[in-house]
Amino acid sequence: MNTQTASADIDHVARLMDTVESAEDANARAVKSTVLSPRFYTTDFQAMDALDVSSVRAEWDVMMKEYEGDNNHDHFQRDAAFADEVRTLMPQLSPEMRQEFLDFLISSLTSEFSGCILYNEIRKNVANPDIKQLMTYMARDESRHAGFINQSLKDFNLGIDLGSLKRTKAYTFFKPKYIFYATYLSEKIGYARYITIFRQLERHPDKRFHPIFRWFERWCNDEFRHGESFALIMRSQPDLLRGANKLWIRFFILAVYATMYVRDHTRPLLHEAMGLHSTEYDYTVFRITSDICRQVFPVEVDIDHPVFRRCLERLLQISLAADRATQRGGVVGRLQRAVCGVQAAWTFGRLYCVPVIHQELPKAIRMDPVW
Ligand SMILES: [Fe+2]
Ligand SMILES: [Fe+2]
Repeated sequence: MNTQTASADIDHVARLMDTVESAEDANARAVKSTVLSPRFYTTDFQAMDALDVSSVRAEWDVMMKEYEGDNNHDHFQRDAAFADEVRTLMPQLSPEMRQEFLDFLISSLTSEFSGCILYNEIRKNVANPDIKQLMTYMARDESRHAGFINQSLKDFNLGIDLGSLKRTKAYTFFKPKYIFYATYLSEKIGYARYITIFRQLERHPDKRFHPIFRWFERWCNDEFRHGESFALIMRSQPDLLRGANKLWIRFFILAVYATMYVRDHTRPLLHEAMGLHSTEYDYTVFRITSDICRQVFPVEVDIDHPVFRRCLERLLQISLAADRATQRGGVVGRLQRAVCGVQAAWTFGRLYCVPVIHQELPKAIRMDPVW
């Protein structure tokens, strides 16, 4: 599939996508659970309570001091220029671009709030002082992040009712080890996404079409630290990083990368406005994430392998075909969707077979956010 055909497909689907015009639409978008949208999670709290981090105590205590210092305490306040920038810049967005930006804000808020709920639930349900303290700090940070994005949605009169979202969105149960793999990845990818956008707009301030991006640098340091916490937890439980668990790690990395790739390619205008192309942006994020993951994962996926690249592109095309089938509806639409499901599973299987890179874990676990 050449690039031109791919973007024509994306335009086609973007036109068919439900638009967000009211607070009701925005709330419905946040509540909806699809393969690509951020989810809410719950877990086995007893197993969380039994975690013992004493083998990484020195690094753990340093990290706790950082949380306690709370260097972003005053960060999530709007400055005087914020409202002016919103007033000047927002009317300049085309309707399609406005929809992509709203989708970006709603999905970012949902994933920030997902972390907030999960960390808060763990905090309430464990007695283990290390885990309780960590979850208290991380829930504090995520609640600030979600609240800050929600203020920007409120500028459009599209604020999300977080209480209702918490009650009505479906929850997925994951055993603690899957929570560690998935949440570690999502925190580190969150860091890589925010810092890539921040650096790009730092180089091209004329492309900063909303003031919220000015907050991303200090914001993503919170995400980086959250990821560090899960790195320490996993390194304190070495069984999670050995034997058959390596197959699970491989699965989670690929699932997270593939989902991000497909999802980001439904927002081509957003990346274009920042002077980025969705593919180039995603590979920058993959590269940063893979570099960071060497602190904890004994396997790394080969993002430069031609089959890896081809499979991601194929998954994108299958997802677009599935969207068209949904629009078509009826028996034919349902059949086409079923075919897409089989094709997606087959392609993911091929992706899984791309050889991985094996590596020794470093002695020092913690890393600095130097990107
Ligand atoms: Fe966050
Ligand atoms: Fe986070």
